[in-house]
Amino acid sequence: MTKFKYTLEESQMPRVWYNIQADLPKPAPAVLHPATKELIAPDDLMPLFPAALIEQEVTQEREVEIPEPVLDILRMWRPAPLHRAHNLEKALGTPAKIFYKYEGVSPAGSHKPNTAIAQAFYNQQAGVKRLATETGAGQWGSSLAFAGSLFNLEVQVFQVRVSYDQKPYRRFIMETYGASCMPSPSNETESGRAVLAKDPDHPGSLGIAISEAVEVAAQNKDTKYALGSVLNHVLLHQTIIGQEAMMQIEMADTYPDVIVGCAGGGSNFGGLAFPFLGQSLRGGAKPRIVAVEPSACPTLTRGKYAYDYGDTAHLTPLTKMHTLGSSFTPPCLHAGGLRYHGMSPLVSHCKELGLIEAVAYGQEDCFAAGVLFARNEGIVPAPEATHAIKAAIEEALRCKKEGKEETILFCLSGHGHFDMTSYAKYLEGTLRNDSYDKNTLATALANLPEVSEK
Ligand SMILES: Cc1ncc(COP(=O)(O)O)c(C=O)c1O
Repeated sequence: MTKFKYTLEESQMPRVWYNIQADLPKPAPAVLHPATKELIAPDDLMPLFPAALIEQEVTQEREVEIPEPVLDILRMWRPAPLHRAHNLEKALGTPAKIFYKYEGVSPAGSHKPNTAIAQAFYNQQAGVKRLATETGAGQWGSSLAFAGSLFNLEVQVFQVRVSYDQKPYRRFIMETYGASCMPSPSNETESGRAVLAKDPDHPGSLGIAISEAVEVAAQNKDTKYALGSVLNHVLLHQTIIGQEAMMQIEMADTYPDVIVGCAGGGSNFGGLAFPFLGQSLRGGAKPRIVAVEPSACPTLTRGKYAYDYGDTAHLTPLTKMHTLGSSFTPPCLHAGGLRYHGMSPLVSHCKELGLIEAVAYGQEDCFAAGVLFARNEGIVPAPEATHAIKAAIEEALRCKKEGKEETILFCLSGHGHFDMTSYAKYLEGTLRNDSYDKNTLATALANLPEVSEK
């Protein structure tokens, strides 16, 4: 009998998160204070995050125990299934075996609740009453709203204006969970007002929305900030994806030759890839690991590896990462979750060490891949996830050309049920492969902060 799904029992769910920092051949560069540009102390982060998350941000331990209350919630939808894409393989005529780890089974529809639940738990334990955050695709905002409702936390979401306009139903989901959601740039904060003063019709960016949320957290004692990607502790929480996938791919009696994930801030990519990369660094098999980004916001493939701020108003710490410059406003592509000027410092570091590869594709090509996937596998993918599908298809076609029976594993990070405006545009033929303005990028890169390496 042809097997389509590899599922685990609830009792098989991983009980620890995996930390890639324990296995890296060289430690990642230090994080610096945004004002002094000196090494940051854990205490400097206390206005923004609870102590437990700061500890996870810097720990070098290989494993971090997942608290029981977090496991109890994750079990509502986890372990997530691993699927074999038999129909897509047939449609492509490839000898390759294509597997995808499907994270769209979570209540919010993506991998984001994996960290939202953990972050809400630690904040509640620390006595925090309110969380402020940004959202690009609406997926993270919905996930934190869901987590906030379970842990009795108020949640205030700044949704990037273009995404707020493109997908009104994401806002209603956040409000259904009890969160408040406003378009960013907003009049609520100094950083938002400064942007609106220059351009009242600004489409917003994740960098601006982060500034607004950080400002709210820094100015209110009962409020902390929560970030849906980029940071070490977020990638740590997402490694539950890769650890499950390792058990499931073993059930399928194979091992990936290629691992693929889309990368906005790097969390679903790192979550899937890091447990495999760790095994490889400890002497195991060495799969190729490919991060996929939009060619209109090509952080890893065209960005500079340099110290930069995570936000536009320069309130966040300085991290060394691949960046397009914090003042760069990416074009309004439909994969809002991939529309970020920076990248996870850990993913960037791995790229610099030659441990991972990166590719970029245009959004029209990615939607074409997403539609082909939907017509064969039945799931309508989130626009972000179509980037991983596109790269997986390219790998499968390469296998066909080379006559190779490789195993390809990718992360289907979420479903696209609230992204139908963008599918409508693709289907009516008005969605294009966007490109960025080269002069704006050059200016943003020329304005990177001057920092002496510590
Ligand atoms: C479905 C989905 N996939 C991917 C991403 C990109 O984020 P990350 O790179 O942190 O996985 C997002 C971000 O919003 C998302 O909603």
